[in-house]
Amino acid sequence: MKKVITYGTFDLLHYGHINLLKRAKEQGDYLIVAVSTNEFNEVKGKKCYFSYEERKKLVEAIRYVDLVIPENSWEQKVDDIQEYRVDTFVIGDDWKGEFDSLNDYCEVVYLNRTPEISTTKIKNELRLSAIKI
Ligand code: CTP
Repeated sequence: MKKVITYGTFDLLHYGHINLLKRAKEQGDYLIVAVSTNEFNEVKGKKCYFSYEERKKLVEAIRYVDLVIPENSWEQKVDDIQEYRVDTFVIGDDWKGEFDSLNDYCEVVYLNRTPEISTTKIKNELRLSAIKI
């Protein structure tokens, strides 16, 4: 069985996330998603609308996802890859080149981002429409 892992915040789940997870699953047979915890998001300078528990439940409900684990730090990837015997690490190409060092442990695949959608864009557009009302 080929195991795939990916990492992300997945706040305000949108179709760009679904596309990424669908194509991640197509890289193998079993998809693990490491969802950033609230504490780790603070380290990344991100403030989420949904809590970790809420984002975890949403991601678990997606048919392509087999297991959700917490992402607590930048450094945990090698441990995760070894613990879960991961074959392929997948992430969107906004991270292209950033994780090439993981090639020592598994295959690294950067997938094209879905254009014109992001959590940041949704938040900004909702903020603007609230001002207009
Ligand atoms: N992703 C994607 N296409 C998009 C948005 C996100 O493929 N349009 C991918 C990212 O590349 C990453 C995963 O989805 O591999 C999780 O990304 P995340 O940062 O949680 O989503 P964003 O919408 O980019 O959030 P933000 O605007 O807060 O950065």
